[in-house]
Parts: sequence; C-alpha cells; structure tokens
Amino acid sequence: MPQADSTGFADLDALLPRLGALGALDAAALEEAHVALLGRKAGVLMLAARSVATLPLEQRKAYGAAVNALKRRFEDAFAARRDALDVEHRRRTAAGLDLTMPGRGRWIGAVHPVSRVVDEILGIFRELGFSVALGPEVETEWYNFLALNFPPDHPAMEMHDTLYLDLPPSGEAPGGGELLLRTHTSPVQIRTLLASRPPVRVVMPGMVYRKDPFDASHAPGFAQIEGLAVDQGISFVDLKATLAHFARRFFASTTRVRFRPSFFPFTEPSAEMDVECQLCHGAGCAACKHTGWMEIMGCGMVHPNVLANCDVDPERYTGFAFGMGPHRIAMQRYGLCDIRLLYEGDVRFLRQFGPAAGSAR
Ligand code: DAH
Repeated sequence: MPQADSTGFADLDALLPRLGALGALDAAALEEAHVALLGRKAGVLMLAARSVATLPLEQRKAYGAAVNALKRRFEDAFAARRDALDVEHRRRTAAGLDLTMPGRGRWIGAVHPVSRVVDEILGIFRELGFSVALGPEVETEWYNFLALNFPPDHPAMEMHDTLYLDLPPSGEAPGGGELLLRTHTSPVQIRTLLASRPPVRVVMPGMVYRKDPFDASHAPGFAQIEGLAVDQGISFVDLKATLAHFARRFFASTTRVRFRPSFFPFTEPSAEMDVECQLCHGAGCAACKHTGWMEIMGCGMVHPNVLANCDVDPERYTGFAFGMGPHRIAMQRYGLCDIRLLYEGDVRFLRQFGPAAGSAR
C-alpha cells in the first residue's frame, strides 16, 4: 500500500492499480481497503487531500485537482463494488441459498443383512422358474396346522408355542378355527395350492411368530422362506438336486451338502439339509458345535393328505417343499453369534454390510 509521507503527500499513480482490484474484493476486504484509502483519520487519499494546503502555490492547484479526481474515482468504485456485493447477497438469500454454508452430511440407508439374504435366496429360485407368493401373518388354525396334516392336539402344535389372538374365530377358512400369528410360512403352501392348479413352483417369504424368548439364538418373530413345487412326476431326486444347486449358488460352488432323515407332519419322507460349515469348512469349530455341518432347512415330499386338503389329486401329482430361516442363514453367512444383532438396528453394526452403508456419515 503506497503510504503518504509525513506531510501527507502521496504518489497518486501508484494508487491506480488499487482501483481495478476493488472489483474482486469480498465485503470484509472491501471495508478494509476503504479504511486504508478513504478513512477519515488515516486514509491515504484523505491525508493527501489535507497535504494540498502545505504545497507551494504553483503545485497546489494541479495536485489538489488530481487528488480530488482520484478520490472521486475511488468513491465511485467502492460504491459500485458495494452494490454488486449487495445484489449478489440478495440473489442468494432470495433463492434460499447460502453458498457459503458447509455441506450437509447425508444418511444413505443400507439393505439390512436379513433382507439381503432374502433377496438373494428369492433371486436364485427365480432363476429356476419359481415365482414369489405372500400370505397373511394372521392365520387360522386350519391353514397353519390342520390343512398341513397336523392331527388335532398333535404335540407339534404345542411345540410351536403358538401366539393365539384374542379375537372371535374366523368363518373364512374351512374348519375356521382360532386366529393366531402364523408359526411358519407353510400355510402359504395351502393358500397357493388352493388358488392355482399344478404345475406350481413358488417361494414364499415372510415373518413368523412363536412364543420364544429373546436370547442369543431365539427371537419371538423371525423370517422364513417357504418353497413348493408340485407337478406330475416330481421325485425326491428333484428335491435334492434343486436344494443342492441352491446351496452351491448361495454359499460357494464347492459347498458340500447332506440330507438327514427328519419328521414334519406335512412332508413324507422328510429331511433336514445341512451345508458344510462356512466358518471352518468342515473341520469343526464352535459355530458348528464341532460337527463341520450347519443345518439350513427342513424339506420333504409333500404329504398326500396336504395335496388332498387342497383338492389336488395325490395319485396324479407329487411335490416337494422346503422351509428355511433367513435370520439363521444370515448369522451363518456373516459369522454372527447373537441373533439380537439383527433386531437392534444399531447403525454401527448395520453400516458394515454392503456398499451403500459405508457412505453414511
Ligand atoms: N415349517 C417348518 C418349520 O417352521 C419348516 C419346514 C420344514 C417347511 C419342512 C417345509 C418343509 O416346507 O418341507 O419348522
């Protein structure tokens, strides 16, 4: 900044570049420059104006005129820049915009690990020609138990520890019966078979409810995916091939599977399918209780009584069914030791799954 000397005299030409520079200053810098140039007490041009009187008479007129002209040019330039800043400010605030505000961190949701597992499982069965069907979470005893060949008062009905609803029985279903929260997705098999004739290939996802305590391995509500294929000539070979293919698509192409005999009222014969433990690959570890295997679903050939209950001729048609629990499968896949992690919605946990989760701030 060219300074006035002790007499206040200033080199006016040296100030000229400052004129053009005003147009780039922000409001604060502009005020600073104003004080330095036109400030009443110590502004360079004000001191220069005052120094005019001290000059010899013959210089006074020319220098005085030059100082005044320059002062006026600066005053105009300051006014123009102030106006421009003012217009800019009003334009921003009128549009509700403050471009100087820091950006806002944005929450980007992630797909829950259980939903991820469900989507993937449904995708694999879609590739095989299965379609997706849904059923209600409030069911009647008939759909949930009786049509599925549970004999009345069968201990399995207690084993399921059913949550009955305190509502008048529904007249809707054959046999009606009390209303309850479905204990499994198998009743959707009945609804599907009653609604569409074979050939049928469906997967049926949904929540189911049981009077289970909430602990590391149980929850009173959890997801299931039911599967059903009914047609002429379907055999146990189809069941094994389909489910083994599923396991190799879902886990790894080399994953070994095994079928163990089991019992369900709605299938005969019945089996449980195990896959090689995904954590120790069959060597045995705490997660698989040192067996090397993890149970992932129940399955079997649809019981002839179930077909008959749905007006499907068991002499003509056969089928296989299966049911699995995506919560448990998610635990196996991600190596989780406590099912409650999947219910708490703790973002520090959920954030670890999938690409979308990582971008949450
Ligand atoms: N509904 C059974 C349960 O919740 C699971 C199940 C087993 C479903 C065998 C099936 C099946 O369709 O064939 O424990």
